[in-house]
Amino acid sequence: MKRIAIYPGSFDPVTNGHLDILERGLYIFDHVIMAILINPSKNSLFTVDERVEMLQESTKNIENVEIDTFDGLLVDYAKSCNAAAILRGMRAVSDFEYEFQIALMNRRFNRDIQTVFLMTGLRWIYTSSSIIKEAARFDGDISGMVPPFVLQKLKDKIKNQ
Ligand code: PNS
Repeated sequence: MKRIAIYPGSFDPVTNGHLDILERGLYIFDHVIMAILINPSKNSLFTVDERVEMLQESTKNIENVEIDTFDGLLVDYAKSCNAAAILRGMRAVSDFEYEFQIALMNRRFNRDIQTVFLMTGLRWIYTSSSIIKEAARFDGDISGMVPPFVLQKLKDKIKNQ
C-alpha cells in the first residue's frame, strides 16, 4: 500500500524552504499531496488559483507529488485522501508552540493520522513566505529563496498592487 502524506499550508507563495521539506518528505513517503488551505478570512497576497499554479510549476520535475486545495478540517481532508500522515516543516523554537498545538488538536480529532515534522534545512531557517513577501515589497533581493517562476510572479504582483 502506498504511504501517502499531506503537506498542508498557505503556500503564499511556495518557497525553496517548502520544496526542501517536500523533497525530504519524499524519502519517507511514496506520495505527497501539497494541499493549500482555502481560507477566505486570511489576507493572502496570491489567490488560491495563483498559488496552485506556482506549486504546480515549482514541482513539475519532482515525481510523486500532487497539488490540491482543501477547506474544513485538515484531518478530514487527510482521511479522504487515505493519507497516513501530515507533513510539516519546523524552523526555530518560534514555530514549535503553534505546530505543537495544531498537531495535538489534529491527533485529538483523528488518532490514525500521524504528524511528521522535518527540521528545516539550515539554509532556510530564517525564511518564510511572510518575510520573503515583505522583502520583495521593499525591493530586497530574494532570488535563491523562491523558485524563479515564483520570483517573477512576486515581482509582477507587487508592481500591479
Ligand atoms: O502555512 P500555514 O498557514 O502555517 O498552514 C496552516 C494549516 C493550513 C496547516 C492549518 O491552518 C490547518 O490545517 N488549517 C485547517 C483547519 C484545521 O484542521 N486546523 C487544525 C485543527 S483545529
